Amino acid sequence: MTISTSPKTISIKQFFDRDSCTYTYLLIDTESHQGAIIDGVKEQLKRDLQYIEELGIELLYAIETHVHADHISSAGLIRQKTGAKIVYSQAAGIKSIDIELNDGDELTLGRYHIKAISTPGHTSGCMSYLVNNMVFTGDTLLIRGCGRTDFQQGRSEDLYHSVTEKLFTLPDETIVYPGHDYNGNTSSTIVEEKQWNARLGKQKSLVDFINIMDNLNLTLPKKINEAVPANEACGINVNPNTYVHEDFSMTSLYQIWQQKNPEYLIIDNRTQEEYLAGHIPHSQNIPLGTEPDHLVALKRFEHIYIYCHSGRRSQTALTNLAMMGLENITCVSHSGFAQWQALGYPIE
Ligand SMILES: [Fe+2]
Repeated sequence: MTISTSPKTISIKQFFDRDSCTYTYLLIDTESHQGAIIDGVKEQLKRDLQYIEELGIELLYAIETHVHADHISSAGLIRQKTGAKIVYSQAAGIKSIDIELNDGDELTLGRYHIKAISTPGHTSGCMSYLVNNMVFTGDTLLIRGCGRTDFQQGRSEDLYHSVTEKLFTLPDETIVYPGHDYNGNTSSTIVEEKQWNARLGKQKSLVDFINIMDNLNLTLPKKINEAVPANEACGINVNPNTYVHEDFSMTSLYQIWQQKNPEYLIIDNRTQEEYLAGHIPHSQNIPLGTEPDHLVALKRFEHIYIYCHSGRRSQTALTNLAMMGLENITCVSHSGFAQWQALGYPIE
């Protein structure tokens, strides 16, 4: 389903995974074509990537509302394929992500801001996201219901405060997009939920709410033992020992370059056109996404250094190589060839 309020505005696509009843959202600034995905499902990766490609989206973020227990996230694979940054709340405590948000932090998406609202309770690391008049609530607030609070450091009291003191204080007309729905509903509004939410509406008291939550008698999600550990690794199987993710500057790279050590390889992972227009002498062009074609050759080197134009693609390449089992990789993560040129270092 596509929701768009005017031709040049933010466009929202809502996708459904039947197996887990999960909603995934694609947010697109129609002017810049920058986009973000919220709560991608691993089994639906192909569908989501196809939309991203067909709509010409430059995907900046793979945002998670929380560590899911009922499905495996596609965030790690999305990052690998698109270079998008993985976003979680800091409280989720997930390693090897790119952006950790705290309450009130904002992400920029074209002309829009995605505002993080910390809403613990379903899990201790749940985050809702507000964009214009829409709030993506994950499993904190569902349509006429809410997420369970009996695992992953969930706490009914926290969820009650998150909903009544944070989400319910948003403007009445704010559209609520939940993380799941099991009854065929797609969205709601704050005013509707304040009135009709079966667990939290009509100014339900904390005591009544806790009483409801304590008596749900739910069985555990069937994928919990598989999904939670997988999602703590962003949905991919990365051996943390091979994942070298240092902050390394272009000046440090210049010092390495001067050593002319044949055991070291410097990779330029920009496109071939960018590489041909000028690159670091003796660097090898391995455009982002083509790393598997070079695995055998890369294994010969003692240490691999990666740069791109600004530091974004090089981080993705590092993840790709680490997932292929390579060790001793360093990427220039906050600058790139533009900086090398600015510093007046040699160019081929
Ligand atoms: Fe959940």
